[in-house]
Amino acid sequence: MSEINLTPELIRAALTTVKYPGFSRDIVSFGLVRNIEVSPEGAVTIGLVVESKNSDVPRYICENVMGVVKELPGVKKLDVNIEHHAPAKVKARTPNDDPADWKSSVPGVKHVIAVASGKGGVGKSTVSANLAVALSRLGYRTGLLDLDIYGPSMALMFGTKERPGCSEKEQFLPVEAHGIKLLSMGLMVDEASPVAVRGPLATRYVQQFLRDVDWGGLDFLILDMPPGTGDIQLTIVQTVDLAGAVIVTTPQEVALIDARKAVGLFQRVETPILGIIENMSYFICPSDGLVYHIFGEGGGDREAMKLNVPLLGKIPLDISTREGGDHGAPVALQDPGQSRVAAAFHGVAQMLASQLGE
Ligand SMILES: Nc1ncnc2c1ncn2[C@@H]1O[C@H](COP(=O)(O)OP(=O)(O)OP(=O)(O)O)[C@@H](O)[C@H]1O
Ligand SMILES: [Mg+2]
Repeated sequence: MSEINLTPELIRAALTTVKYPGFSRDIVSFGLVRNIEVSPEGAVTIGLVVESKNSDVPRYICENVMGVVKELPGVKKLDVNIEHHAPAKVKARTPNDDPADWKSSVPGVKHVIAVASGKGGVGKSTVSANLAVALSRLGYRTGLLDLDIYGPSMALMFGTKERPGCSEKEQFLPVEAHGIKLLSMGLMVDEASPVAVRGPLATRYVQQFLRDVDWGGLDFLILDMPPGTGDIQLTIVQTVDLAGAVIVTTPQEVALIDARKAVGLFQRVETPILGIIENMSYFICPSDGLVYHIFGEGGGDREAMKLNVPLLGKIPLDISTREGGDHGAPVALQDPGQSRVAAAFHGVAQMLASQLGE
């Protein structure tokens, strides 16, 4: 019988079964394993680096690494050394600082707000676009970054086909539409060419979008998150110093379940939940004026109460909202005095701005 040789490669392969807590990705592909040493006597030393604000994360990883490696044949002694530090912070923000120095990993941006949902198709992009427009209408310099690289929709929602430029410092220059600075994968690729990017490359694209854009000084940057709570979402919440997250849901239980997962993602990295927006909340029938709760009633209220966060607004299911999205003119551009939906989005924008001290 031939003996299996205990090598660093064998141990590294075994470590690919240890997942980062809460995610499908393993600690090797995340780059957490710094070194693996094996002595001829079977003494194994593993060095890991964990960057997280949460001290439970290194403890959980250490326990799992020990469990997996101890089982390997030939391991006589095991040392796991974890270097744990919180993500690097840029210096603190004060109102008179130069925008370039503000505490944010997106240079020149004061508040970065992520709009997320967990479940797809509940209206993140619609809410992101209209929230950005409403903030801009309130006088704030606002940008919008569409981070859904598989299904970007912002180019369509803002009715622009202009390609982003490139600055002297070789950074992307966002395009402008309806007073918003906008950057989207939809502006970088032809409609016909699907974005065939997967795994680590997708993560790299997202990181580049978060770092290499010359926003030119913004009060708010809205991040339209891709659906789900997987690796790309984790990269985003770990890369950017977010002011907070807004969770979009419909009142339906299936959407609420996924909204809870999204809340969990942000809580794991200690990002405040700024509130919940209940989209497709109700429908007012144009012919009889009656209110119909197509996706159920009160789900957003109950969830907000449970989480102890504000319900920022209830957005009705409404034809002009869908049309605005399809025709490149977000409904929040309309006069809030004339449009119930525009008024709802302006209300959300006001609540968020005041929560963030603006
Ligand atoms: N309040 C609303 N009233 C009417 N239509 C809406 C409303 N909100 C969203 N929609 C429509 O529903 C569809 C899905 O919305 P949207 O693209 O904003 O969802 P999403 O959560 O960003 O989806 P994805 O998960 O694919 O990114 C779009 O066609 C949009 O126009
Ligand atoms: Mg979307």
